[in-house]
Amino acid sequence: MTVATQIVLAKRPAGDVTSDCFRAEKVTLPALGDGQLLIRSRFLSLDPYMRPRMTELRSYTPPFELDKPLTGGSVGEVVESRNPRFAKGDTVIGMMNWASHTLHDGKGLRKIDPTIAPLSAHLGVLGMPSFTAWYGITHICKPKAGETAFVSAATGAVGQVAGQLARLAGARVVGCAGDEEKCTWAVREAAYDACFNHRAERDAGAVLDKLCPQGIDSDFENVGGPIFHAVFERLNNFGRVAFCGAISEYQDKEPIAGPPKMFTIVQRRLTIQGFIVSDHVALMGEFTAEVGGLLKAGQLKSRETVVDGLGKAPQAFMGLLKGENFGKLVVKVS
Ligand SMILES: NC(=O)c1ccc[n+]([C@@H]2O[C@H](COP(=O)([O-])OP(=O)(O)OC[C@H]3O[C@@H](n4cnc5c(N)ncnc54)[C@H](OP(=O)(O)O)[C@@H]3O)[C@@H](O)[C@H]2O)c1
Repeated sequence: MTVATQIVLAKRPAGDVTSDCFRAEKVTLPALGDGQLLIRSRFLSLDPYMRPRMTELRSYTPPFELDKPLTGGSVGEVVESRNPRFAKGDTVIGMMNWASHTLHDGKGLRKIDPTIAPLSAHLGVLGMPSFTAWYGITHICKPKAGETAFVSAATGAVGQVAGQLARLAGARVVGCAGDEEKCTWAVREAAYDACFNHRAERDAGAVLDKLCPQGIDSDFENVGGPIFHAVFERLNNFGRVAFCGAISEYQDKEPIAGPPKMFTIVQRRLTIQGFIVSDHVALMGEFTAEVGGLLKAGQLKSRETVVDGLGKAPQAFMGLLKGENFGKLVVKVS
């Protein structure tokens, strides 16, 4: 009999997520049925998309259910298996509960080699956020030499890879991040040409005029809101926007207005494309070969924030929505 510690959604947030939206519980898991496996979580990924899932609003993933464990991309170890695809001792990645242990049916789960990289890397620079950056840069932004590429949340899990890929493609890369330490790292370590602190610089448009005197040819958009509006106004003819996320809007009680002059899209022949990385899993092999190669060659830097203990996941998640993480945020569960 396994007793799991898990964190459930106790209440849907209205505005900012608060600690009473979560509740820690202990549950006794039932015996394994045919096809099931028991996984002990090692690392849990905390990601911005979890915030919209806490509401009932229509999105590309169903809402979390009240009084049920939240789920997230995780790496874990198979403790027991009645599923022919997995054996005790396998290291696996996939969606699991915010929990010490998850009873799983094996769907969407895959084995990983725990020796090729630290386990947490499979949730970051070798995993979904990095794949997202790679897809948006190579398939939508398509930066090249002579162009200026912009990346918001420049040092986050997705942004840090997007910026470096744009730079490797030859573009001049400008980003924004939430404090001076992040901006310094972006320029010194992640090869950004410039990065501004969006929490200190209230007039993003004025800073962009200084940092992007030739305008902006591609935007990898992670943040939305006023920063995106300022970027939008400065897009050059045939500019491309990979609309990846809008984290600045996830906690808004009311939707905010978009950029004021949408006819700009026509005048400047812009491409603005929203995308969800899970629609492109067929390209995962191509991504792994390319980004894995860059990592091996030492051409890609990455940062992560590791929080120790499942009990700290709610606080860490609230911090993610305020910029307290630096790079990929993961929880070390066991
Ligand atoms: N489309 C897809 O398939 C897909 C997949 C993965 C992620 N995403 C999206 O990509 C974006 C980045 O995700 P991530 O996993 O890489 O997260 P992350 O950047 O590692 O963490 C979120 C960061 O967003 C910034 N932020 C938070 N609130 C903000 C605000 N009000 N204004 C400006 N910046 C704010 C903070 O950085 P600073 O301290 O620098 O402000 C924070 O550290 C999110 O919008 C996410 O939803 C989309």
